[in-house]
Amino acid sequence: MFLLRNIKSLVLTETNPQKMVLGSQMKQLDSIENAWILLENDIIHSFGSMENCPQHIDNQLDATGRLVLPSFCDSHTHLVFAATRENEFEDRINGTTYEEIARKGGGILHSARRLEEMSEENLFQQAQKRLSEVIGFGTAALEIKSGYGLTVASELKMLRVIRRLRESAGISIKATFLGAHAVPTLFKADRNAYISLIINEMLPNIAAEGLADYIDVFCEKIGFSVTEMNQLLEAGAKYNLKAKVHVNQFNCMGGIAAAVRHKAISVDHLEVLDDDDLAALRSSDTIATLLPTAPFFLNDHYPPARKLLDANVAVALATDYNPGTSPSGRMSFVWSLACLHLKMTPSEALHALTLNGAAAMELSDTHGSIAVGKKANLLLTKPLQSLAALPYSFGNDCFEKIILNGKII
Ligand code: NIG
Ligand code: FE
Repeated sequence: MFLLRNIKSLVLTETNPQKMVLGSQMKQLDSIENAWILLENDIIHSFGSMENCPQHIDNQLDATGRLVLPSFCDSHTHLVFAATRENEFEDRINGTTYEEIARKGGGILHSARRLEEMSEENLFQQAQKRLSEVIGFGTAALEIKSGYGLTVASELKMLRVIRRLRESAGISIKATFLGAHAVPTLFKADRNAYISLIINEMLPNIAAEGLADYIDVFCEKIGFSVTEMNQLLEAGAKYNLKAKVHVNQFNCMGGIAAAVRHKAISVDHLEVLDDDDLAALRSSDTIATLLPTAPFFLNDHYPPARKLLDANVAVALATDYNPGTSPSGRMSFVWSLACLHLKMTPSEALHALTLNGAAAMELSDTHGSIAVGKKANLLLTKPLQSLAALPYSFGNDCFEKIILNGKII
């Protein structure tokens, strides 16, 4: 048993654990002031206020002046990649847009060329380093996508790397197949042939090895059309792959309503959003996952989070960690951007970074809040005035200790 006591505030506690928090409730954050929490192995055993703190526990930590919160759940990343893309970063500074770079065969296609050359072992080693880094930033559950393969062999290579990460990481990892990330140059004249390759070659092989939990499509003018996405999501469903899709990053194309019809777990990005998109989400269980570091890095506009929250949509926040639009996996910085640019309160944003992120990976039974029986994945802050000090101190490292599976790492 491991006891943390004299906690200034134990944040995001649940007595009746919910699958997710809907928009209008995200402001209301439950916490216990002057609290304790008891961990049994890797599980939260019990918690309460110091008035009834358990006695005679050998292994104790005094948390005076400090907050304890649930670890972050990052539900959208592309953490497996072969090379960074600083060259494009400079091109964009000089005026070329992300979409222009993509149309010229850079961007995702550049990443795919680099990944093809790299051995599975090397790819794994590099990804493992990034993974330890994000665990150090406080993430304890993570989704990782393929999508820099774009050939049967390379997509399988990426997904096998994700499987190895999952087996060795000590945190929960979900794998998403994103064969439909870009149309490879070889197929530019015949897009349908690439879609057939995804459906007839990639999907059956991936399913045979059980390599993916979800299917994703980059539904965008520089990606895939809504008709193509429909076709791909239907094909994925035959292998029990639920949908988590990239939609509305640059254009409204009707992708959100289509994804909702496929009962997508989440629709991700949403930098642009029209009334039909909002209406489709309002009456659905689909989570809106916002990725503010992408428009930050592309100098683009931010998603209209308040509209989603006011429409009572469950909003999640994730890093989108990838070499093209978000070369950082730091959830604390996402928190700051959510408060500053999405106008989310610190409490709303924390729900989005934890419980709703867990829900966007179907992990909220075990992750995302402080509840009895959930995983003992906790963040202990440095001495702080209040919760708002965390997103306020942007870029700073505010955590003194990270507790993963009941142990300080
Ligand atoms: O979520 N836009 C599509 N996919 C990624 C970026 C991929 C890349 O540029 O390498 C995203 O932003
Ligand atoms: Fe992404």
